[in-house]
Amino acid sequence: MSALLRSHLCAGIRAARPFGTGARTCYQVPQLPACDINPQPYQGRVYDELLALRRRHLPPWMITYYRQPLLLHQGRGQWLWDSTGKRYLDFFAGIVTVSVGHCHPRVTEAVKEQMARLWHSTNVYLHPGIGSYVERLCATLPPPLQVVYLVNSGSEANDLAMILSRVHTGNHNLITLRGAYHGTSYTTMGLTSISAWKFNAAISSGCHPVMCPDVYRGLWGGSKCRDSPVQTLRTCSCPSDQCQAREAYLAEFQEMLKSTVPHQLAGFIAEPIQGVNGVVQYPRGYLREVSEIVRDRGGLYISDEVQTGFGRLGSHFWGFQSHGVMPDIVTMAKGIGNGFPMGAVVTTPEVAGSMSEAWNFNTFGGGPLACAVGTAVLQVIEEEGLMEKAESLGNDLMMQLSDLRHDFTIVGDVRGKGLMVGIEMVVSKESREPLPGLEMNEIWEDCRDMGLLLGKGGIHQQTFRLSPPMCITQEDINFAIRVLRQALERHTKRGRGPA
Ligand SMILES: Cc1ncc(COP(=O)(O)O)c(C=O)c1O
Repeated sequence: MSALLRSHLCAGIRAARPFGTGARTCYQVPQLPACDINPQPYQGRVYDELLALRRRHLPPWMITYYRQPLLLHQGRGQWLWDSTGKRYLDFFAGIVTVSVGHCHPRVTEAVKEQMARLWHSTNVYLHPGIGSYVERLCATLPPPLQVVYLVNSGSEANDLAMILSRVHTGNHNLITLRGAYHGTSYTTMGLTSISAWKFNAAISSGCHPVMCPDVYRGLWGGSKCRDSPVQTLRTCSCPSDQCQAREAYLAEFQEMLKSTVPHQLAGFIAEPIQGVNGVVQYPRGYLREVSEIVRDRGGLYISDEVQTGFGRLGSHFWGFQSHGVMPDIVTMAKGIGNGFPMGAVVTTPEVAGSMSEAWNFNTFGGGPLACAVGTAVLQVIEEEGLMEKAESLGNDLMMQLSDLRHDFTIVGDVRGKGLMVGIEMVVSKESREPLPGLEMNEIWEDCRDMGLLLGKGGIHQQTFRLSPPMCITQEDINFAIRVLRQALERHTKRGRGPA
């Protein structure tokens, strides 16, 4: 068969199995679920010109995804279209940000209405939007977490949490987990503990990373440590009410405190599940016990819910609730605005009260537009039952991914909660050595070619991150699984590793 004929056949066929003999194998590209939206034709500047402009005028520290960066043109729900009109299923949601769906009509309408009335006022005046919004937001949080300060990003929220914890306690030192990402502002870079995000500059002092209690890649972990429908393949003999891994990580935590910091602490910050580090989960009960140790030393517990909040974890609206722990400060961003720049810090009246000796001002925080967006997002999450959807669809996604773990040795771990899911890729299950970057990228690019956008994370960039908008459907999940299976089969065919 001629190469030309073979390539025509490959383009037209829609069967599930690979076929072909010799050097080239043809695959049936899984078909995207139907979508009744017709994207507008792209009429912007040509691709190469835009790429050149980006290289000339935007700084080198701005990374792009993919060998040929995507030029996005339109979005709706879980769908994105590029400049050629190709449609993608967005399983990364603009880095865990698009919570209720791209261009959700209800949110878009709220913005339009508010824009026609009043864009900006600053928080030195009253306006109705901020009152209604914080009331609604506080209804999602347990008392005494009832004082809200609105900002514009997650980094700003964590900056303020750092100040609050230090001013309130009168102490300086903050504990953070290795692998954490809490922002890249000058101060939060101290909390962020992934060297790829750190610059060789005098980064904010008094931030101390401790061992991450990662039950898959870390020193300790067993077969029932984590709050996920899929457990690691590690074994353990812990009875159901005990966890040796948790005890070992807690002992390590205490050890670190004894050797590294003075007795009194300003606080401890952690995400309920680490996002940028590749959806890393801790042993059950770890955060609760750490929060007690920190409080015994005068410190506050800060829960960074920038990725885990707003129902994404399915069982609860906030990640800390799934750990049965009560924070003193909660920081949030990303999903709060479905893509609109917003962030918030929520704390108790007591902690907030300790910052009354000076003023803190934020020009855009809590503006009328942000409050209109935030209110619409909360309404949609509730009315469309998105949290419940995140739980049931997330469970199904992880169960289907665990079949892939069974079938492919390079799938080392599948984990997560709700629609915050990670697939950690390894050279082999036995070694747990991270899959080399080249191979990760080949699989990732194959998924993109087939219409599935995924994120990546982990210190070695060894974990695929799946965090779609919460409006996805069962069909979308089935499609994503077919794409991933085919990408893994292609990897096997390339002869890079055993299946
Ligand atoms: C957990 C977490 N905290 C804080 C931030 C910083 O948020 P922003 O990029 O809005 O400043 C991020 C961003 O990815 C994040 O994932």
